[in-house]
Amino acid sequence: MKKEENQLMEKIISLCKRRGFVFPGSEIYGGLANSWDYGPLGVELKNNIKAAWWKRFVHMRDDMVGLDAALIMNPKVWEASGHLKEFSDPLVECKKCHERFRADQLMTNDEQKKEKSESTWACNNCGEFNGEIKPRQFNLMLKTFLGPVENKDSVVYFRPETAQSMFVDFKNVLETSRKKLPFGIAQIGKAFRNEITPGNFIFRTREFEQMEIEYFIKEENWKDSFEYWQKEMQSWMTEVLGLKKEHIHEFEVPDSERAHYSKRTIDFEYEYPFGKKELYGLAYRGDFDLKNHFKEDPYSDIETGEKLYPHVIEPTFGVDRSVLAVLCDAYHEEPASAKGSGEAKEERVVLKLKPGLAPYKAAVFPLLKNKPELVAKAQEVYQHLKKEFAVAWDDRGNIGKRYWSQDEIGTPYCITVDFDTLEKADVTVRDRDTMEQERMPIKDLKAFLTEKINKN
Ligand code: GAP
Repeated sequence: MKKEENQLMEKIISLCKRRGFVFPGSEIYGGLANSWDYGPLGVELKNNIKAAWWKRFVHMRDDMVGLDAALIMNPKVWEASGHLKEFSDPLVECKKCHERFRADQLMTNDEQKKEKSESTWACNNCGEFNGEIKPRQFNLMLKTFLGPVENKDSVVYFRPETAQSMFVDFKNVLETSRKKLPFGIAQIGKAFRNEITPGNFIFRTREFEQMEIEYFIKEENWKDSFEYWQKEMQSWMTEVLGLKKEHIHEFEVPDSERAHYSKRTIDFEYEYPFGKKELYGLAYRGDFDLKNHFKEDPYSDIETGEKLYPHVIEPTFGVDRSVLAVLCDAYHEEPASAKGSGEAKEERVVLKLKPGLAPYKAAVFPLLKNKPELVAKAQEVYQHLKKEFAVAWDDRGNIGKRYWSQDEIGTPYCITVDFDTLEKADVTVRDRDTMEQERMPIKDLKAFLTEKINKN
């Protein structure tokens, strides 16, 4: 990683910690293997992303229904899905320091590549030259025991993807929702993988969240459906998350690298500060899953009585990687400028989040903290908005400092109650990105914020 990219990542991690977006997990006990906790602002941002996804892909469509299934499923699910046999990464261990690595992540250093052949590696931890790579397959399923007895019969697994419950519940959903092909099931929830090398902040963790769709179709329609979902995912990333198009790349995953169930996969990659890495995936899973779970019991078309195993297109979205991409794209450092009337003319850090995703939609300030009439009026405005939106209250320091503080957490509008407000029932609304201010009647604030939040 280049020095400035490294610095950018450090700045984002530090902002996340300082302002309450993301904290190291179990920090007072020294942390736990790259686990992270979402703080007061992080949980708002993450919930806003999940809510926008649910609205767009479930509520706004007639062909999609939701599910919220158990995290721990009967182990037979993972036998049928192939995860117990196939869901592994190649692992190598350094013979000197015994650090373990994913073999496919080694040899990334150009110097190593120049000096050694493709089949050899040097340890990323101690630098020892280890010769030939002899990886062994390491299964990523995270195990535990269910019930009071710990033996082989009580072994169960935390789900490594939300997908399988949507296949296992396929018939229950079909019968109760009375949907016909093509239709989809959507789910948001936690998944667990015993990753060999978690890292890069919230990018790769052992406990993470997914938003997944299993879209059921007839086989002959798979190419059109795949292209349709490819476009849907593109517009989600740019229009809803607001990611810059030039930061997103598509990678057609070759046969040799695809998951065991997939007949075609595209990885959507994002230019994170630590490199271009997978953000989302789109896979054509064929009829692999339904056939394995519903042996001898195919789907029966309500109208024609035709028996078939539907094929599946799977758009899958990592929640934590979405949060990280949104933060990286939104992070801006702006040099001191004369813009912004009455504001401190210093460099500012601003998160240019889409208003719909921002943790707070607005912040309300009394111009002066020691004028009870201003504080009372500002409280009235604050309580009025709070009934509908997540809004912040700030009466510390001077107005310029309050603006800067809200810019850093991405609050799109700051509303100031001043002496004119007491007479004219209007307020100053300051825009985070342009730093322009306008006067607005208090009665128009709700409609103004609603319009900005819903705008893509
Ligand atoms: N059901 C298909 C499936 O799970 P995947 O590509 O293995 O496919 C889907 O995972 C998405 O889940 C990824 O594109 C990524 O966004 C997210 N993801 C996977 N492993 C992750 C990890 N260890 N930490 C954070 N997010 C992860």
